[in-house]
Amino acid sequence: MTDFPRPAVPNGFPARVEPERHLIPRDFVWGVSTSAYQIEGAAKVDGRGPGIWDAYCREPGRIAGGDNGEVACDHYHRYAEDVALLGKVGVAAYRFSVAWPRVLPAGRGAANEAGLDFYDRLVDAVLRAGIEPWLCLYHWDLPQALQDEGGWLNRDSAAWFADYAALIAGRLGDRVRRFATFNEPSVFALFGYGFAWHPPAVADPAALHKAIHHVNLAHGGAVDALRAQARAPSIGCIHSMQPARAAGGRTAADEAAAALLSAYWNEAFPAPQNRGEYPPLLARAIAPHVRDGDMARIHRPVDWFGLNHYSPIFARADAAAPLGFAWADAPDDVPKTQMGWQVDPWAFRDTLIDVGRRYGLPVYVMENGAGTVEQPDASGNVVDLERVGYLAVYLSALYDALAAGADVRGYFVWSLLDNFEWGSGYNNRFGLVYVDYPTQRRIPKASAYWYAYLIRGIMGRVP
Ligand code: FCB
Repeated sequence: MTDFPRPAVPNGFPARVEPERHLIPRDFVWGVSTSAYQIEGAAKVDGRGPGIWDAYCREPGRIAGGDNGEVACDHYHRYAEDVALLGKVGVAAYRFSVAWPRVLPAGRGAANEAGLDFYDRLVDAVLRAGIEPWLCLYHWDLPQALQDEGGWLNRDSAAWFADYAALIAGRLGDRVRRFATFNEPSVFALFGYGFAWHPPAVADPAALHKAIHHVNLAHGGAVDALRAQARAPSIGCIHSMQPARAAGGRTAADEAAAALLSAYWNEAFPAPQNRGEYPPLLARAIAPHVRDGDMARIHRPVDWFGLNHYSPIFARADAAAPLGFAWADAPDDVPKTQMGWQVDPWAFRDTLIDVGRRYGLPVYVMENGAGTVEQPDASGNVVDLERVGYLAVYLSALYDALAAGADVRGYFVWSLLDNFEWGSGYNNRFGLVYVDYPTQRRIPKASAYWYAYLIRGIMGRVP
């Protein structure tokens, strides 16, 4: 990506104990993120319709431990307590997502008032706490009824999504300013249609290319709908951007595999949305799905670039795989979180600098965090020093990016709460706050206190 000299020792990164205040813009936004299916639960309550993850979780062997999001953190009923936690941490912003199946149980047509009421109550509570709501329209939970009509493989999905965006903007856009269209479109597209690891569990390049294009069309349509319906919207899309590296023997074929993974992961959505073109490695494969005028519909002006970043990703050549490459683990000799994700703050710094240069948009880091397996100690506390270390070193990298001139305007930790971590179920925890699932008790971890003091130190917000 960029050409920074790399110190030889990967864990010798100079973590700053004190944040570099002079580097941080005055209005820098400190936040935390969550998503609907991962925390809300109440899957069959108050008229919510089924979503694709409900059905997928019921398929044997899909989710570790046979877990599902039916109850999750029961946030639907406990949102007031969770908003109080936001206040304790002292964040200025809270990113959440709306569950499309909760507000439109059949995906389109009649809205579910009880579902809309829930988001009214949530937004009002967040605003009352002095916190800015950041609303994401789609964090992977497509209504099952739309999947039954072909889901993202149906070109009509773009219009379904724009109508849904208009509904939400019309209902909440008097109070919510910050809107994201999609969370990590490259991840649900690639995992859902390329690797069969997420619903609808397809591994077919032709389907993947079609889905990519339709999701991009949906993004463009939603941007227009949000602008038309919300009062003063500030709109972005949230992309997962991680350097893709060659694993295995690092042969020329492995390097080509990594380049292809990077095109799918890092470029298939940001490039058309922000530059009006598909990346050269994918353009020919996607072309059959592109009609006249499509690129102009996709390439709509947005206000910021949402960036999720955790760790480099790896690929190796595999002629037998549908896409011609296989996903690979990080090498053995690099530092990793308990979840096996490489800890590489330089990759974060380089990505922040690179994204700003490529797209010329202000960048908000909308997710960053560490997955661990943990439990309270004998005194009932959760001392998650691994997470504190990860966050401290990644924030040091962010300060470096600011020093190098990157236009980074905010940072959101994934996540406020431990939650349903997709294929790994409830085993991997990302929260600043521990959730004891049997009792639904919330226990702020050491990292929550650490983050609260950091924010207070910089922003003067009193936890
Ligand atoms: C991201 C997802 C988020 C969470 C984190 C750990 O890819 O957007 O929902 O699962 O990873």
